Amino acid sequence: AMAAERALAMATCTAPVNIAVIKYWGKRDTDLILPINSSLSVTLHQDQLKTTTTAAASRDFTEDRLWLNGKEEDVGHPRVQACLREVRRLARKRRGGGEDTAALSLSYKIHIASENNFPTAAGLASSAAGYACLVSALARLYGVEEELSEVARRGSGSACRSMFGGFVQWQRGERPDGTDSLALQVAPETHWPELRVLVLVVSGEKKPVGSTAGMQTSVETSPLLKHRAEVVVPERLAQMMRHIRERDFEGFGQLAMRDSNQFHATCLDTFPPIFYLTDLSRHIIALAHRYNAHHGHTKVAYTFDAGPNAVIFALADTVAEFVEVVRRSFPPATNGDQFVQGLPVGSATLSQELVAAVVTEPLPGAVQYILHTKPGPGPQLVDDPSQHLLGADGLP
Ligand code: DP6
Repeated sequence: AMAAERALAMATCTAPVNIAVIKYWGKRDTDLILPINSSLSVTLHQDQLKTTTTAAASRDFTEDRLWLNGKEEDVGHPRVQACLREVRRLARKRRGGGEDTAALSLSYKIHIASENNFPTAAGLASSAAGYACLVSALARLYGVEEELSEVARRGSGSACRSMFGGFVQWQRGERPDGTDSLALQVAPETHWPELRVLVLVVSGEKKPVGSTAGMQTSVETSPLLKHRAEVVVPERLAQMMRHIRERDFEGFGQLAMRDSNQFHATCLDTFPPIFYLTDLSRHIIALAHRYNAHHGHTKVAYTFDAGPNAVIFALADTVAEFVEVVRRSFPPATNGDQFVQGLPVGSATLSQELVAAVVTEPLPGAVQYILHTKPGPGPQLVDDPSQHLLGADGLP
């Protein structure tokens, strides 16, 4: 039987980042990563932001090993181990208990290498893309095709939403074992072709408190978070699904802004309080509202996670003008030509009235660059073996 087992097997996948428009904040089970409320996100395109992961198993490996962006890391991390254990469990179940001799041995040690196509230092480094990619590559390696968002959820809650493209709901579920706490696609990325995303990458500072610790303190101390999870989110989730279905940008944008603001309000309601929004975030928020007020309706919408970068939603016909507004408001320090990255942005001339009403007090250098992207697909298998992040020797 041993002779039929493959000596080395390798699989490479890519996975996307997602940005929530109805935020996940708070767990009812910290071990299984079960949320106190459902959430909804937009998956961003992997041409601009993606993680690539290669997973390999070999009879010759003597220990499990993990490399992130070329640097060896601790493979014993409980969340990495939870993902590995769950994928192997699904593989065993699939094989019906009996050893399929043609299948990859589940007892072989594994090597994993993962890297991002964006600078980690920019604070875009997303555990969501990382765990979605890890689970996708492991599943491929072991030939598992089951519902995998439940496994990705064990890596990082928001990672389950990166298992699908387009518009994705993570339903909180009711069961204590988490088997109904899954991600579901609400609509594919093709559903809303005009929707665009601008990531305003801001200069400096790391986030003060990580999401995992921060949301736990919020669950323990914030009465606003309890009200949000029980009353506000169920209503908003239904509204948001309708706005997406109808491609209603005004409704979508207003609700995304309100939900981001309420998430940050629950952070302030946490004791001791947590501050993710900065003076610059507040400048960007005010700028978006002045811009919308000038046009008399919602043309741009902001959302902020547990870090200082701003994510802006807009329709394609608004991007060039708003990018010019951002450039005037945060004049680039040195990198004038690289200020806009990602999808091409056309040029726009701003009217005197627009400049006077919207560009109030410029802050030079405060925004490092703008990344222009759009909704995109879920995890992808990389077929080309030259793209593997591990060599035939199983090393990066
Ligand atoms: C503010 O998924 O990073 O981005 O489940 O503890 O790993 P863990 O937390 P994580 O939290 C994300 C919080 C958020 C909102 C969101 O993405 O919904």
